[in-house]
Amino acid sequence: MSQNTNKIMAWIDDRLPVTQTYEKHMSKYYAPKNFNFWYFFGVLSMLMLVNQILTGIWLTMQFTPSAEAAFASVEYIMRDVEWGWLIRYMHSTGATFFFVAVYLHMMRAILYGSYQKPRELIWIFGMLIYLALMAEAFMGYVLPWGQMSYWGAQVIISLFSVMPYGDLLTEWIRGDFLISGATLNRFFALHVVAVPLVIVALVVMHLLALHEVGSNNPDGVDIKKHKDENGKPLDGIPFHPYYTVHDLVGIVVFLMVFCTVLFFFPEGNGFMLEYANFEPANGLKTPEHIAPVWYFGAFYAILRAVPDKLLGVIAMGAAIAVLFVLPWLDRSPVRSWRYKGIVSRIYIVIFGFNFALLTWLGTQPATELLTLIAQIASVIYFGYFAFLPLAPKFEKTKPVPERVTGGH
Ligand code: HEM
Repeated sequence: MSQNTNKIMAWIDDRLPVTQTYEKHMSKYYAPKNFNFWYFFGVLSMLMLVNQILTGIWLTMQFTPSAEAAFASVEYIMRDVEWGWLIRYMHSTGATFFFVAVYLHMMRAILYGSYQKPRELIWIFGMLIYLALMAEAFMGYVLPWGQMSYWGAQVIISLFSVMPYGDLLTEWIRGDFLISGATLNRFFALHVVAVPLVIVALVVMHLLALHEVGSNNPDGVDIKKHKDENGKPLDGIPFHPYYTVHDLVGIVVFLMVFCTVLFFFPEGNGFMLEYANFEPANGLKTPEHIAPVWYFGAFYAILRAVPDKLLGVIAMGAAIAVLFVLPWLDRSPVRSWRYKGIVSRIYIVIFGFNFALLTWLGTQPATELLTLIAQIASVIYFGYFAFLPLAPKFEKTKPVPERVTGGH
């Protein structure tokens, strides 16, 4: 750095801790050197968050949030606005890739016990992000005012009617006696301003909590136990430049897959943009099959698996709520699944595939057979959380190495 830049930096640093913050979170943040594939998805979630915010701002410039004009304004973006189709597809495909990244990111935490002490708060902030993200995606889907926007909103908002004061509550959410332009308008305000602000704030808290205790790793060992004479963890490497460059590789590969889907399969065979949504909303004509977008599938499948509406809503709420207390349900003395007993190891894998199965089931029409499968899959889902506190009672864990394995 030249003498002058040094002086400018020193002047700024006396007034705002820029260098100190950069060092704390980048060049002097020591991350375990054995990060693997699963550790790409935090930064990839961040990449998709930025993509959603930027493309969202540009979509907002041409979108009209009214029941009369919303559908046509999306068509206008797709056909007449220069590059509008690209921005819209980046946003709609981006939502799918955001959820793919977040789900794999969560699965990583489950595999390596990253939610365990002392990282409970990182997990809790993560779960709050996930809740906010679901609300954000739901409200975004209503905006194009197609058939599925309207009827999806109808199904989801009507779930609130089973709660005490349900009718009042649903009316308050809709801002009208029916889903109408008033609902669309408030969802627009929440989708473009309120919820993104909350998500960004939560991501900052998520990362501050992470950097306070330090990252976990695939072995689940504490790298702060072994330090060199300068107090640097022996198994750690500075985040910058090592992981910034490493993450860049993940970003490039992820963007290649993203672009392939974006340019060749933007509708995702009806999974990302549902065909019924190419028709304008019509409150008098219910679509034959109302299905959520894939990323809500798992919880929707659990909701439908229970024959009673109230109990279904409770089961769906419980399926999300139980994730919040995961750090306190897992009493295993080891973090990573690598060192857990065989039953735990098998159940973790089943849990992952079972969640994928539930996700698919939620997007399909509820036939008798599929409902039965969804019921079994729901039991397997909840069973995992019941199994966790019991596992240490009958299962021996393997010895955990002192130092991380791999990454040399
Ligand atoms: C917008 C969404 C999110 C963003 C941008 C984000 C970002 C990040 C980043 C950059 C990291 C550090 C790098 C890494 O470990 O991959 C991280 C770690 C972590 N995140 Fe997230 N995250 C998000 C959502 C979530 C969710 C939904 C959960 C779980 C409910 C979660 C749980 C965790 C945990 C437990 C860690 C620590 C992992 C470890 O040290 O092994 N995150 N997050």
